Amino acid sequence: MSTEIKVTIVSGDGIGPEVTREAVQILECIGQLNNYKFHFVEMPIGGVAIRQHGSPLPRATLDAALDSDAVFLGAVGGNEFNSLSPDKRPEAGLLQLRQALGGFANLRPSIAYAPLSHNSPLRPEVTDGANILFVRELLGGLYFGEPRSWDRESGVGFNTMRYTREEVVRVARVAFELAQKRRHKVTSVDKANVLEVSQLWRATVTEVAAEYPDVALDHLYVDACAMHLMNTPRNFDVIVTENLFGDILSDEAAVITGSLGMLPSATIGGAVNLYEPVHGSAPDIAGTGKANPLGAILTAAMLLRHTAELEQDAQAVETAVQRVLAEGYRTADLARTNQPNQQIVTTREMGKLVFDTLNEIINRNQAMHAV
Ligand code: IPM
Ligand code: MN
Repeated sequence: MSTEIKVTIVSGDGIGPEVTREAVQILECIGQLNNYKFHFVEMPIGGVAIRQHGSPLPRATLDAALDSDAVFLGAVGGNEFNSLSPDKRPEAGLLQLRQALGGFANLRPSIAYAPLSHNSPLRPEVTDGANILFVRELLGGLYFGEPRSWDRESGVGFNTMRYTREEVVRVARVAFELAQKRRHKVTSVDKANVLEVSQLWRATVTEVAAEYPDVALDHLYVDACAMHLMNTPRNFDVIVTENLFGDILSDEAAVITGSLGMLPSATIGGAVNLYEPVHGSAPDIAGTGKANPLGAILTAAMLLRHTAELEQDAQAVETAVQRVLAEGYRTADLARTNQPNQQIVTTREMGKLVFDTLNEIINRNQAMHAV
């Protein structure tokens, strides 16, 4: 990997630009300390792109994205586009971008951070120590399956949950390989008691499991998984599932962390990796300083891990986030009544706190190595 890393920034709509700015600042900091040159190129996507260029994914944005080492996305979507058909909405820009970049494995860690153990409506004894990695298939299933339509005249609408064996094999392999570096357990989630496509999914994941004898595989129906996630989140290690199930379950799993604003994601396996926090554009709080930048900052850590191959620095960013939380700093989404030591901070302040803490951690690490 060269020490020049070209990152296309598509910060998008709502709180997207605010949280992206804090994440970029973290990457710049790591870049300077490592003699890495992050080269950032800003391009429009989503609602801003519709307003400026009449398309949610302008050609120039797509070209820049394809010509980079990584793409970092803030968020897309806004209420003014709600009446548009799915193919014209801001979200269509993101889906086209995902398809063009080719990453099929969307990694979404959901971690119960100790300082936030009272943030979840779940009791700490249920969530403490929970650390789940979702591997959401990102390019197939209901999102992309054909045929699809809504015929207003006949009053019929349909989408197609379609998978090929190869699509399941490749995402299953990613899940098993990641499980080998974790707690050696994969849970595959489907609806094989009703759907043929899920029977294909289950049979294929079972077949792939034979290549990984050191990893235990179990299967859950998606409805049961939704319940177990709340009852016994600690029992999960890696969860691999199809596109829509993964979309829904990863939002649900945010409850374990305490806020959707905390969740990062990385999409790997394609020509260019795509990094995006799990949360949306939250237009209701855009520009108010209430947005939580930690999901975006933890997404930057995933970029350091999966694209820059700077594992130690990725961990330093994650440690900095935990330390700032342990000191009691909270953005609005993380604030709770009856928390004695909490200090409410803005998006910018939270970004700065992580930035300063990260600098301290890295300086200390370097001093230790110099001895
Ligand atoms: C997500 C989002 C997207 C999705 C939307 C914005 C298209 O909800 O990344 O989870 O459904 O994949
Ligand atoms: Mn979602």
